[in-house]
Amino acid sequence: LLSQVGPDAHMRMVLRKHPGQRAADDLEIIYEELLHIKALSHLSTTVKKELAGVLIFESHAKAGTVLFNQGEEGTSWYIILKGSVNVVIYGKGVVCTLHEGDDFGKLALVNDAPRAASIVLREDNCHFLRVDKEDFNRILRDVEANTVRLKEHDQDVLVLEKSPSSIQTSTHGTTTTPSHYKYTVMSGAPEKILEHFLEMMRLDSHLNESDPALDDFVLMHCVFIPNSQLCPVLMASQGSEQERLDYTLNNKRRVIRLVLQWASVHGDHLQEEDASLAFLEEFFVSVSDDASVIPALKDQLPELEKLVKNSSDDARSSPQKHKVLLRQFSMGDEKLQKRQAIKSNDEILFKVYCSDHTYTTIRVTVAASVREVISAVADKLGSAEDLLLVNLSSAGDKVVLKPNDISVFSTLSINGRLFVCPRDQLDSLTPLPEQEGPSTGSLGSFELMSSKDLAYQMTVYDWELFHCVHEHELIYHTFGRQNFKKTTANMDLFLRRFNEIQLWVITEICLCAQLSKRVQMLKKFIKIAAHCKEYKNLNSFFAIIMGMSNPAVSRLSQTWEVGLCLSVSVCHCVGWDPSRNHRAYRLTVAKLDPPIIPFMPLLIKDMTFTHDGNKTFIDSLVNFEKMRMIANTVRIVRYCRSLPFEPSQTSKNHPDVRSYVRQLTVIDNQRTLSQLSHRLEPRRT
Ligand code: CMP
Repeated sequence: LLSQVGPDAHMRMVLRKHPGQRAADDLEIIYEELLHIKALSHLSTTVKKELAGVLIFESHAKAGTVLFNQGEEGTSWYIILKGSVNVVIYGKGVVCTLHEGDDFGKLALVNDAPRAASIVLREDNCHFLRVDKEDFNRILRDVEANTVRLKEHDQDVLVLEKSPSSIQTSTHGTTTTPSHYKYTVMSGAPEKILEHFLEMMRLDSHLNESDPALDDFVLMHCVFIPNSQLCPVLMASQGSEQERLDYTLNNKRRVIRLVLQWASVHGDHLQEEDASLAFLEEFFVSVSDDASVIPALKDQLPELEKLVKNSSDDARSSPQKHKVLLRQFSMGDEKLQKRQAIKSNDEILFKVYCSDHTYTTIRVTVAASVREVISAVADKLGSAEDLLLVNLSSAGDKVVLKPNDISVFSTLSINGRLFVCPRDQLDSLTPLPEQEGPSTGSLGSFELMSSKDLAYQMTVYDWELFHCVHEHELIYHTFGRQNFKKTTANMDLFLRRFNEIQLWVITEICLCAQLSKRVQMLKKFIKIAAHCKEYKNLNSFFAIIMGMSNPAVSRLSQTWEVGLCLSVSVCHCVGWDPSRNHRAYRLTVAKLDPPIIPFMPLLIKDMTFTHDGNKTFIDSLVNFEKMRMIANTVRIVRYCRSLPFEPSQTSKNHPDVRSYVRQLTVIDNQRTLSQLSHRLEPRRT
């Protein structure tokens, strides 16, 4: 008998004692044993000694015994002392096997989430050490390993890292309770990330309090799992009847919620994708069927029905599904009409010039690739030659566009034009006379308008442009729109407006020959900037300030000397100081309430910076930390627009001001502007 009671058996005997009844000797024996356990090797002596007092021995005799089921509440953490277990996931079966020394079950404890998998004994007579939730939270929660790697079939599928869980109070500030840590997704396989967020979703919260983790997924999934792949996965993740009923029910409810949020982030852009619309309809039918068997699903049905009805009605009845846009660069009335967001499959008419300055007008979809534009032009010209599409600036600079690039019309420089020619004619391309811009300023009308009216009407126009920008355009822009085959036209036009306003300031000042008038004008621009800031239009505010700091304007020392006191005070009190990555601006904006028009180029720069500095995939897993960072910037835009801008002001000359600010003509050739500037105030010798 004695030989059977080896150190192992003795240890078990000690561990079987109720934790309260363990003597000092017992604790010492357990502690010694813990030193050999891989899953605990990273813990300190103190923690191990504490664990010795709470660990419980648990054994099961039969292979096939279920320790716990996926979807259940987590009550304990386990270490395998002997034997092995299978990790089983509904719809997937056994995804991996864990052996002696491995641990499992802490995800649910740390994240207060349901069990992500079921654990089933793989052989008879398995032994475990168990730590129950309360003890785990008290002793281990905060010192537990920082990284968890989940494997399926010997490959990492999800990498989680512990970080202070942050409760979002607003888009700008997050408050953290440092004592509360959770595992957040660092990287993972697309479908596993989805599975994880579905599992983590809290059904008790209201739909409108959007869950930030889920929101990250819904915003960013286009980067790593496009709708064409996501929809079938969502259809399948509703689960099957073979699963336990309570699990199925909750799971279905989570998927429905995700679909609702997905549809709301995509908005009317879903109507461009037949497959996504078809998915919504099919999904609705499937949920209706389920609801007749599971009455608890009924409460989500009306919302889903409304959504499906709206989007399919819109898609069917919408006469503008293939609406023709007017030519982008005309000075026509379209700028005076209320804007609608431009969609990828809208059609556009635009002019493409040849080297002899004749042009062809072509009609293509907004998201057409350069290759498609060239072939449309070649058709019209009856040309069989290999043609190049060139973006020719007013200064004569040429950029040959890459065949794969898409939606090029919106990314031209302000006075840039598209030219087409065979490669051997590239050098002979010259800009059109109209690209030069105006030769006289608009002082006559500008003088008559008040700076407040101008700022107001500029803000109304900026709001129209900003309002049309879809959140996804920021992502397409950052990751390269040619990868998505979707247009970023609305955002391009908004960014163009920034350049246009900047050039407007420079052009008007450089075309104003009389010193006293120029001083007046400079003061007026400063006032307009200050009013823009009052309207929380930071985009135009910065555009004006940057126009004034362009060398062609800032070198005009006579003009500035007279206007100095005003300019210095305005530029200082508005906190124009780009140092430390625009810290002053960021602090100011953080205190503003929406509606706000943000300084868009800075947001774009932030996102590009994040994109360039972080890989999208790490060891073939999606770098979700990067997704979260980009999503945070997108949410700033969302916050800025979370309340509508209510047009309020009425003023008697408002129609004039309105059309004036929408039809600015500018010189965009820096050399020309610089020459004009030197003519106004020659260099002092
Ligand atoms: P928890 O969610 O608490 O319960 C199930 C446990 O299975 C989970 O914690 C992980 O510790 C473990 N596990 C191991 N591999 C996987 C996997 N691929 N997916 C989910 N859980 C896994």
